[in-house]
Parts: sequence; structure tokens; C-alpha cells
Amino acid sequence: MKILLTGGTGYIGSHTAIELIKQGYEVEIMDNLFNSKITVLDKIEEITGVKPKFYEVDLLDKEGMRKMFEEGKYELVIHFAGLKAVGESVEKPLKYYENNVGGTINLLECMKEFGVHKIIFSSSATVYGDQGVSELTEEMQTGVGITNPYGETKHVIEEILKDVAEADPKFEATILRYFNPVGTHESGLIGEDPNDIPNNLMPIIMKVSTGEIEKLKVYGDDYDTVDGTGVRDYIHVVDLAKGHVAAVKKMQPGISIYNLGTGKGTSVLEMIKAFEEASGKKLPYEIVGRRAGDLAEIYANPSKAERELGWKTEKTVEDAMRDTIKYLDYCASK
Ligand code: NAD
Ligand code: UFG
Repeated sequence: MKILLTGGTGYIGSHTAIELIKQGYEVEIMDNLFNSKITVLDKIEEITGVKPKFYEVDLLDKEGMRKMFEEGKYELVIHFAGLKAVGESVEKPLKYYENNVGGTINLLECMKEFGVHKIIFSSSATVYGDQGVSELTEEMQTGVGITNPYGETKHVIEEILKDVAEADPKFEATILRYFNPVGTHESGLIGEDPNDIPNNLMPIIMKVSTGEIEKLKVYGDDYDTVDGTGVRDYIHVVDLAKGHVAAVKKMQPGISIYNLGTGKGTSVLEMIKAFEEASGKKLPYEIVGRRAGDLAEIYANPSKAERELGWKTEKTVEDAMRDTIKYLDYCASK
């Protein structure tokens, strides 16, 4: 089966490309390289022995996309491409709606024109908003209490996919709601390498450890959680990538929605401790006030994915820290 990965040179896309290639799928990648580097393709080749065909195309370039689809003859698209900086989305909402929502509409139009009926979409736990409970299940109402335009784009795209499925009985869409991806491939050759300033915990921990950022600001230690700091469900990116392979195998008509998470919460202080234990180094941090829009504690109920996709996570936060340090060592040696 030939699969197009939009945003496939990015963090999650590149790890997914590796797992798909390992399972014998033919993978092609399109990306505008806004937040990733072309050298990722060589790393994928080093790890798998296969260098995926690459199109440097923007989702907003409809003609470029049409050419790619004409050549590609894809059976399925995994749609990772999108902008994801929550803070920037508050400052530049139109850029986020145009790129993420407008770009997805272009993609869906091309898919229709070229007879591609199957799509897997990278959604996020952010669509749940504030449910007032920590454990999140797929049937909960979404779209209420989302605190930023980035999150809104994920919700809107989910709604668009549902409407398209309603209108076209042949359409098959799987929505994967990721919790917090962390870690890197165990080779240490690829990892999260954002071109922009990170605002997520793990990339910041990485930059503090290399000295690029002086210290980690811990946003609040007065939440009603195990130690007062925010709790999230950190999923190893290789487990997440394997979740996509499981989803590819289970495509079916209509809409299917799955949480991809571990089911276990870890606090910010526990993450710091895990990093310190794996690296043998102290990580400088200070407790500061809460960050606007943050929830105290959320984690996935991942039982639907286990039941229907036969997938569950195998790796731990400790594995993620070990692999991340290997990646940092590799980057330092370059
Ligand atoms: P990433 O930034 O590493 O990868 C996204 C890729 O999309 C980048 O390579 C970027 O250059 C590309 N891209 C962006 N706009 C594009 C456009 N208009 N045309 C072509 N390419 C474009 O991010 P990631 O962490 O790998 O995330 C992948 C997807 O998963 C995103 O949709 C993101 O919103 C979603 N997601 C990520 C997280 C997370 O914490 N990393 C959590 C939930 C959901
Ligand atoms: N945190 C800090 N200091 C930092 C960064 C984060 O203490 O410098 C804390 C946050 O307060 C939170 C936890 O670390 O308690 C995780 O924060 P992230 O920003 O890494 O992740 P979030 O869960 O807040 O949000 C991210 C994306 C959302 C997405 C969600 C689930 O930004 O869009 O993961 O996928 F919805």
C-alpha cells in the first residue's frame, strides 16, 4: 500500500515513516520544511535502508499538491502537517486557521479529485477542553472550553472530517487524538528538532540540559495533583508511531476516533527527576506562576485503541529520557 505522509519530515511523521517502512509499506513524504529539515530523509534511510520520495510542497499550494497526487497514486494519506505552537496561535490566529484548516481543505479536495478515500488525521487531546475530570474518553463532548486557536483548528478539522464522511459513504477517516509525545528513536539519530522556539515541556528540558535555556520554569506547584505540578500523559513517540501502523491496518468506512496515550499521568517534577536520573545531571528549574489555559491533570483512557486496534504503549518515560539523551549526545557530536 502506498501512503502519503503530509508533514512527514516533522517529529511524529518521521518516526511514523520508519515504523511504516519497517512493516513493508511504501511511504512518500510532503512537507514545506517550515519546521523540519530535509536531512531527516537521510536519517530515515540510515535506519530503514529506504529513502522515501520527497515533495517540498505547501498544503496551501493547490497546484503543487495536485501534481503530487497525480504522480503519487496514493491509497491513504496520514495528515501530520500543521502549525502547532500554541502561544503563536494566540498572536496569529488567522495564520493558524489558514494553514491548518485551509490546508486540510485543499488536501481533502485533492484526495477527492484523485480518488483517495482514506485519511488518518493527527488530532490532539486539546479538543477535549476542560472536562472537569482527568481521564479522557473518546465519547466525551469535544470543542467546549478550548483555550487557543491551535486547539480550535484541531476541533474544526475533526468536524470537517465528520461532515465529509457523512456526505461520502466511501470516505474512511481515522482521527488519532495524541496526548503528549516525548522521546526519540532509539538509534538517537532523529528526534524533536523544532526550527521555532519550543513551548512544550520536553523540548524545553532538552534546551535547558544543553545550556541554550538557562532554567526550566515550572508553571505552578499549587495544583491539586500528586506534587502540585501539572500532570500529563507522556507517550513515547515510537509507541505513537506504531499506533499509526495499527490504525492503517484497521481503516474502515466512516469516522473512527482513538486516544493515543499511555493511560498514566506524570507530573512536571517527576519528569525533571526522570531526566536527571537518566542523564546523571541536575536540571536547573524554578517554580513560577501557573500558565494561562493550563489544566491540572489529564491523561488518556486508551482502552478503545487497545480493544479495536490491538495497540497499546510498551515504552516508559524512562525509555523516553534515555533515548532523548542519546539524541542530544548525537546532536552534540555533529
Ligand atoms: P512538527 O512541527 O515536527 O511536524 C509538522 C510538519 O508539518 C513540519 O515538518 C512542518 O514543516 C510541516 N508543515 C506545517 N505546515 C505545513 C504546510 N502548510 N505545508 C506543508 N508542510 C507543513 O510537529 P509534530 O510534533 O510532528 O506534529 C505533527 C502533527 O501532530 C501536527 O499536526 C500537530 O499539531 C499534531 N500534534 C502534535 C502534538 C505534539 O505535542 N507534538 C500533540 C498533539 C498533536
Ligand atoms: N510546563 C512547565 N514549563 C514549561 C512548559 C510546560 O511547567 O516550560 C508544564 C505545563 O504547565 C504542563 C506540562 O508541563 O503541566 C506539559 O506542558 P506542554 O506545554 O508540554 O503540554 P500541554 O499538555 O500543555 O499541551 C500540549 C500541546 C497541546 C496539546 C497537548 C496534548 O501544546 O496543544 O499537549 O496533546 F493539546
